[in-house]
Amino acid sequence: MNPITFVLFGATGDLAKRKIYPALYHLYMNGKLPKFFSVIGLGRKELSDETFQAHVKQSLHDFYRLEVQENDTLQAFLSLFGFNVLHIDQQSHFVQLNERVEKWEQEVGGTANRLFYLSVAPNFFGTIASQIEESGLGSAAGWKRLVIEKPFGHDLASARELNSQLSQAFTEEEIYRIDHYLGKPMVQQLEALKEANPVIQALWTNRYIANVQITADETVGVEERAGYYDQAGAVRDMFQNHMLQLLMMLTIHSPHNVASAEDVRLKKRKVLEALDPLQRQDVHSRIVRGQYASGTVQGKEVQGYTSEPGISPESMNDTFIAAKLNIDNYHWRGVPFYIRTGKRMQSKHTRIVIEFKEPLSSSLHPDKTTVPNMLVIEIGPNEGITLQLNTRDPHHKEKFKPVHIDMYPDREEAPEAYETLIHDALSGDSTFFVHWDEVELSWQWVQPILEAFAANEVPLYPYEAGSHGPAAAEALLAEDGFHWWFDE
Ligand code: BG6
Repeated sequence: MNPITFVLFGATGDLAKRKIYPALYHLYMNGKLPKFFSVIGLGRKELSDETFQAHVKQSLHDFYRLEVQENDTLQAFLSLFGFNVLHIDQQSHFVQLNERVEKWEQEVGGTANRLFYLSVAPNFFGTIASQIEESGLGSAAGWKRLVIEKPFGHDLASARELNSQLSQAFTEEEIYRIDHYLGKPMVQQLEALKEANPVIQALWTNRYIANVQITADETVGVEERAGYYDQAGAVRDMFQNHMLQLLMMLTIHSPHNVASAEDVRLKKRKVLEALDPLQRQDVHSRIVRGQYASGTVQGKEVQGYTSEPGISPESMNDTFIAAKLNIDNYHWRGVPFYIRTGKRMQSKHTRIVIEFKEPLSSSLHPDKTTVPNMLVIEIGPNEGITLQLNTRDPHHKEKFKPVHIDMYPDREEAPEAYETLIHDALSGDSTFFVHWDEVELSWQWVQPILEAFAANEVPLYPYEAGSHGPAAAEALLAEDGFHWWFDE
């Protein structure tokens, strides 16, 4: 592999220390970084290379999932890191940075590549992109890539604006948008599950599936992010990105050969294009908006959202959203997809439940005791797949008994989301990144919700912290004759 400089904006920030350094360390320990690799951390405060290396080392001790040994290997890893001060409005800082990168590239030789990782607030993306372009930093001998994280805009208009700023300096193929849900091992398994198992493939259609439920519940509240979260709400923070990505990954039908990044992108776009458009006047019947009140979460009493520090007592922000969606295509027409996500819920889990149609009609079998076949995919924090089947009860000939087939992937072996994603970005594999089409189409679908929420056209249901959300979310399924599974 040719040399790579990893240029990290926001190098002393939270994401860098929690996720990026541990991920790079893991890749290094597993021989997955190129022979010539250099990280230049950037930040507003002046730091020497040594102080920065000590900061990186501390992050590994605090956040790497295995014990970090103090040895030569660790030293060799830390020696890859250097620091430059950078104020994004000062072009001279970009020029100095470019000089440092060029010097290193000349020393190591080869066709040098540059990866720019923007771990900073999105309002800086545009300026950084144009500074990279104007300072010459963007003129790599090999490839250049840009890695950014959500939020990609605040609504459809701002997402388009952001994208046009970025496209002045980077082509779409050069932009790697991270949605960390796409890096989760079980989300990446969804592909294989369908592609490599004819049993699943055959059932992956409206002929057999009654409904699909996607839940991402969290026990945490707004935490220290009042400023951001009160403007975002669950709809922007989770639904427009993570939840719709889960929906796409679940419902795309891959070709039988190994799918390329291009195939996956195309198919994902098709799913979003096939989503039944949501009209603003229908938001009240298809979307449930909720906000947590006080309550007890896992034995601890917690305050309501509007009493949280930094949140106005009048805030109408959504901390919970549930939605009913339909995909109007050959495979999925007629299958309702129910999606919900909320903070301060009873437990932390991200789960997909695929409920199959019941084979026995209850009028012909009034005494039937079957449960629907279900495929349950646990995405986190526990990972696993369970298939629920019916067997005949040996003691009561007329009765059936559910049995469960459980599969638990080896946790030790599964890489962390950021390990996979950073490695993919370095290797140029964009399969599990978000394409602009997905960003644009998902904002487009969500836009009527944003408008209806902002205009207060739909109720804001309070729900007790530690519960499963407002009762209205239950009603969304009940009107179709279904209920959320596992809400006991
Ligand atoms: C982030 C959101 O993108 O995802 C957070 O901004 C949320 O509000 C987090 O807590 C959830 O991620 P995970 O991996 O813990 O489900």
